[in-house]
Amino acid sequence: MKRALLFFIMLPWLPADAGEPGPGMKRWYTPEQVAQGKALFARHCSECHGKNAASTPEWRKPGPDGHFPPPPLNGTAHTWHHPLPLLRRTIREGGIRLGGKMPGFQEKLSAAQIDAVIAWFQSLWPDNIYALWSGMRSPTASQPAFIKERNPGKR
Ligand code: HEC
Repeated sequence: MKRALLFFIMLPWLPADAGEPGPGMKRWYTPEQVAQGKALFARHCSECHGKNAASTPEWRKPGPDGHFPPPPLNGTAHTWHHPLPLLRRTIREGGIRLGGKMPGFQEKLSAAQIDAVIAWFQSLWPDNIYALWSGMRSPTASQPAFIKERNPGKR
């Protein structure tokens, strides 16, 4: 009985639109994108975000320079709070212009390559995290602080 109740309470968090990916359902990317993204990540991102996108366990603590370390992208931190257009923009533009430390990659990576990198790190996310991400309703609700300062309507 309690279990059934919990199920109904949890329902709003699950993707409501037909065809949207959810637990055990299809994800937006292909295995080819994941494979391409893996190589690109190793080349461009792993020096900061770690080989398996796990970064450092200390990612919540600012360093001596007051900046936060690169967060893990493997589903254990808050990357799943950010919708796809925002993830794309973060990688394109980086965080330096917003007071962060990540360089932008728009000169180095094409839009398709950026999508492949996102596909790879999302392939590390367990289904429950992916489902929460894909069920997100408000694209601007949970932008990271360093992005919030910028025009939230523009993506
Ligand atoms: C020089 C170190 C560095 C490199 C290289 C780097 N990042 Fe980052 N990244 C950071 C830091 C630091 C942050 C936190 C925001 C900031 O300070 O700009 C961040 C934030 C992010 C975020 C936002 C995560 C969140 O949960 O809010 C994403 C997504 C991301 N990086 C993806 C990538 C990808 C993909 C690459 C490779 C194409 C990459 N980064 C390369 C340092 C780096």
